[in-house]
Amino acid sequence: MAAPERLVFISPSDPPGDWEAAFRTAAPEVEFVVSRGEVERPETIDWAVVWKPPAGALARLPNLRCVLSLGAGVDHILLDPGYPRDVPLSRVVDPYLTAGMSEYVVLHVLAHHRDLPHSLGHQAAGRWKPFAAPRADETRVGILGLGELGLDAARKLRPFGYRLAGWSLGRKAEPGVESFAGAGELGAFLARSDILVCLLPLTPATRGILNSAAFDRLPRGARLINAARGGHLIESDLVAALDEGQIGGATLDVFQSEPLPATSPLWTHPKVIVTPHIAAITDPRSTAQQMAESMARVRRGEAPLNPVDLTKGY
Ligand code: GLV
Repeated sequence: MAAPERLVFISPSDPPGDWEAAFRTAAPEVEFVVSRGEVERPETIDWAVVWKPPAGALARLPNLRCVLSLGAGVDHILLDPGYPRDVPLSRVVDPYLTAGMSEYVVLHVLAHHRDLPHSLGHQAAGRWKPFAAPRADETRVGILGLGELGLDAARKLRPFGYRLAGWSLGRKAEPGVESFAGAGELGAFLARSDILVCLLPLTPATRGILNSAAFDRLPRGARLINAARGGHLIESDLVAALDEGQIGGATLDVFQSEPLPATSPLWTHPKVIVTPHIAAITDPRSTAQQMAESMARVRRGEAPLNPVDLTKGY
């Protein structure tokens, strides 16, 4: 009898028990191994399900058939210079993750449009100070990244009547969303974005894209929502733009260093809402089913679901 296939689970933050239970249902034939450092009998590992794997960990698995990212983004894997580039890599595209991200984006676009941070400041000071929000149809929301997540967020923002635009590498045809494409149109896109939402994949081309030059292109007092990756944002540039008034407020779910260090000025900045990388959590039950489908495809000699193009980085 052939030895059972083995799957190694590597993540510093995802609860392995939930994933083990999900795989017991989705792929009962596969042995689930949690890595706490070195993996025993590395040559017997077929599959790796990973979030932020330590550098070199995947290269030490010589018979790996597929790497399955625990996140929609795969930058946390490709940062490893020793990543075995001949092994197919699959990322998460999951309706629950997409819905979670859109909930987060709608919540915070509304919070900034209606200036919730300002109201909370008045409440803390016991001040009754009514103010009017701008009309939604005069509020321009710009979404950086019009992939799976950006398009869903745009569709869910549409009923509020915002003026929507998106920026992506290639032009998109989405009703009610003005499409800006490529580096040449980034400036014009920023100039028309009162509320800027970042949902980009983190690649060498997008690292640091949220910097003071970009902030200077935004309308004065614009708001920023970053639910993508901390690496997109130069945090010191944001603090300067907030303090100077060029940026009127921000919601940040992701940071250059996570957990956000206690010394970060972002924790206590009155114009900033901080959340601990929770915009879109990967759902084990739903995602393990898809990972099992990817494994079945790879066994048949096909590509996994949602294969990552390593030249593009997403
Ligand atoms: C979370 O950050 C993800 O990549 O899904």
